[in-house]
Amino acid sequence: MSTLVTNIGELVTCDGTGEGGAGLRSDMALVVVGNRIAWVGEASAAPAADSVIDLEGRCVTPGFVDSHAHLVFAGDRSEEFAARMAGQAYDGGGIGVSVAATRAADDDWLRAALAARIAEMRAQGTSTVEVKSGYGLTVADEERALRLAAEVTDEVTYLGAHVVPAEMREDRAAYVSLVTGEMLTACAPHARWIDVFCEPHSPHAFTGEESREVLLAGRAAGLGLRVHGNQLGHGPGVQLACELGAASVDHCTYLSAADVDALVGAAGTTTATLLPGVEFSTRSPYPDARALLDAGVSVALASDCNPGTCYSSSMPFVIALAVREMGMTPSEAVVAATRGGASALHRDDIGRIEVGARADLTVLEAPNHLHLSYRAGVPIARVLEV
Ligand code: NIG
Ligand code: FE
Repeated sequence: MSTLVTNIGELVTCDGTGEGGAGLRSDMALVVVGNRIAWVGEASAAPAADSVIDLEGRCVTPGFVDSHAHLVFAGDRSEEFAARMAGQAYDGGGIGVSVAATRAADDDWLRAALAARIAEMRAQGTSTVEVKSGYGLTVADEERALRLAAEVTDEVTYLGAHVVPAEMREDRAAYVSLVTGEMLTACAPHARWIDVFCEPHSPHAFTGEESREVLLAGRAAGLGLRVHGNQLGHGPGVQLACELGAASVDHCTYLSAADVDALVGAAGTTTATLLPGVEFSTRSPYPDARALLDAGVSVALASDCNPGTCYSSSMPFVIALAVREMGMTPSEAVVAATRGGASALHRDDIGRIEVGARADLTVLEAPNHLHLSYRAGVPIARVLEV
């Protein structure tokens, strides 16, 4: 069964060529067979197919790859957001509120909430999403979160090292032992990745040395590495991620020159994933994306959708923030939200439109990709059901 998608006004291939690597092409078509792209070329030269979708000049991009999201949670923290807008700082303490609510929720409630969040993402153009645990923080609750996440995505991340839970606050070392021992054994079979909130500026999160212990244990259990680093201030997260060959270090809000050098040296292995929805929702300074791109760092954009620092699942919103607040060009922002996210997940079958890639396509109610930031807040992007 083949499908011809034709009259694509602007095709954003993200093939690495042209301004920002967006590989823009006009008046294009493509053919999908099964779940793969089988042909790409000018609409006038398109082959016949079993069915035809006429896009009447709309823009097509690769489906957005949201490489950082925390979607398995219950509870409401809107009052915490309001307090931050009134000037209160974020320190990770609110995570405990989500942990209590998530532990109290039953499987069916969490499964339904997760499905609704994924549907919300697809309706905004996201075709791949990474999902972390981290609101369970007991062996059973972390294992459950990962089991539910694995029902909806292949990109599942064990984040038992999100914070030290309240009941173990007096014995951090015991909690790190649990995360790297019994909890890891229960969780690793459901996950592809391990992550840690490496943040010396939060009393709830983990130091560089604790984070190293968590990551090395995860690696020994066969998991790939991801790091939450340098979110609240300067710290060891970026250097640790680059040293250990993590696939991604996320936030990167506060970077020293040495951090940028480490990311340049690790480009190709370690992606710097920027999460500007967090800066928006915590009233923090935005990361210096321009400096990272100019230095040659591999950069991705992701939502970090979570109940605390950014309860937005919208990649178009993230793209608009990147353009307006972080000095990225519209092309760079779309590439970072697609091919960049794929790099952060060490995937080359998504995040680009080329023969052989997965047929994950996003269509815009617009003639070109500039509208993603030009029409901020307007629901113009959706995953194309082929
Ligand atoms: O990526 N920083 C740590 N974790 C999340 C926030 C979690 C929360 O506040 O619930 C983040 O920002
Ligand atoms: Fe996060």
